[in-house]
Amino acid sequence: MMEKQIHLWAFLQGIGFFPSGWMHERARPEGVFSMDYYARVAKLAEQGCFDAIVFGDQLQSRGAGGHTPERMAMPTLDPVSLLTAMAAVTDHVGLVATVSTSYNTPEMLAERFGAMERISGGRAGWNIVTTAHPATAPNFGEDDLPPKDERYRRAKEVVAKACELWSAMDREGPMLPQGRPVLVQAGQSPDGRDFAARTAEAIFCPAANIEAGIDFRNDLRSRVADVGRNPDGVRIMPGLSCVLGGSEEEARATHAAILDLADDALAIEYLSESLGCDLTAFDPLGMIPVETILDQTILPRADIARAITPAQEKGTPLGAFAANFMRHPRGHNVFLGTPEQMADMMIEWRDAGACDGFTLQPSYMPGGLEDFVEQVVPILQKRGRLRTEYPGTTLRETLGLSAREAVTA
Ligand SMILES: Cc1cc2nc3c(=O)[nH]c(=O)nc-3n(C[C@H](O)[C@H](O)[C@H](O)COP(=O)(O)O)c2cc1C
Repeated sequence: MMEKQIHLWAFLQGIGFFPSGWMHERARPEGVFSMDYYARVAKLAEQGCFDAIVFGDQLQSRGAGGHTPERMAMPTLDPVSLLTAMAAVTDHVGLVATVSTSYNTPEMLAERFGAMERISGGRAGWNIVTTAHPATAPNFGEDDLPPKDERYRRAKEVVAKACELWSAMDREGPMLPQGRPVLVQAGQSPDGRDFAARTAEAIFCPAANIEAGIDFRNDLRSRVADVGRNPDGVRIMPGLSCVLGGSEEEARATHAAILDLADDALAIEYLSESLGCDLTAFDPLGMIPVETILDQTILPRADIARAITPAQEKGTPLGAFAANFMRHPRGHNVFLGTPEQMADMMIEWRDAGACDGFTLQPSYMPGGLEDFVEQVVPILQKRGRLRTEYPGTTLRETLGLSAREAVTA
């Protein structure tokens, strides 16, 4: 029997996974607005036989207190435009753009993804998000985001209507190569998981460890079965960052050196952005200003309280808490070790049913992606776990998914 293949996506947002990654000597932050840079990383992902490249989208400046953090460059180009440009310099790699259903009409979505789908010859994917950050609302003339259940209700309607429009394009003109883009989802709440179960062909999620991955995948597969879809028709792709070295010790030392590039001020800006409250005026050696955070945060208070309470109880100073917070950004798994060990870990997760593959989030760019493609990809290929060439021309073929199913609205 053929052993389980590992799917690979590359999440190439901005300058890498670690907030201090852009200061690494093999990072090229000056390239993030240049087509040369994007052409190079797109070809690299294709050389590594990745299924797809993914870009997020925030629709706002990621500010701590309503401003863009000065010390935390987070460049974001419109993902549909960027990936359409990357289509021109590649032949096979899939192109997954994040676009919000809360702040777009189905007509606009159908049009933009239709263009990307045609220009790429059937390599488009849509990461459907409902937008979580309240700082987005004022950019669309609103004070606040609509409540989450309302955002997901709208998401269902928007996706169903966009799918209708793509079907109409099929009837009226030359068919879209995949019929419609591959539908991808990234959402964690019960509402988000239900929406994914009805809609998604692939899911991008965090999983901090193998047990969390198994729980998430089992939960999603049973939700997919409950709505009458085939669980094998959905690829679950948790995030995975890494720092590689010739030995485990070397990888740990490199990881520590990357984190050390960040001083207190950068760490606190990153924490501020993550907690939705500006903490830059506070003393790093002082206690975590819990009252201020809970009073001023623009994010859900209960989530924020959960994140800060254990550190408050231990009496951790603000600077130390911020430094530690950077070690585990956004709940994704960070692997430290040799390329062999990384390949072993990926195979173990896949065989244990913790995922169908991984969304690689290089710690700095493009050096981190280069290392993975040069050092880990050949090991996975040699062990027969990663393709050595693409099976066809469309993203759906690359993902091993059959023709589109109807969306269960
Ligand atoms: C791994 C991951 C990546 C995400 N990327 C984005 C993004 O780029 N842009 C965005 O607006 N939301 C993003 N989201 C959030 C989604 O918008 C999601 O709809 C939001 O978190 C609210 O739903 P939830 O509570 O079900 O997660 C992401 C979520 C996850 C889990």
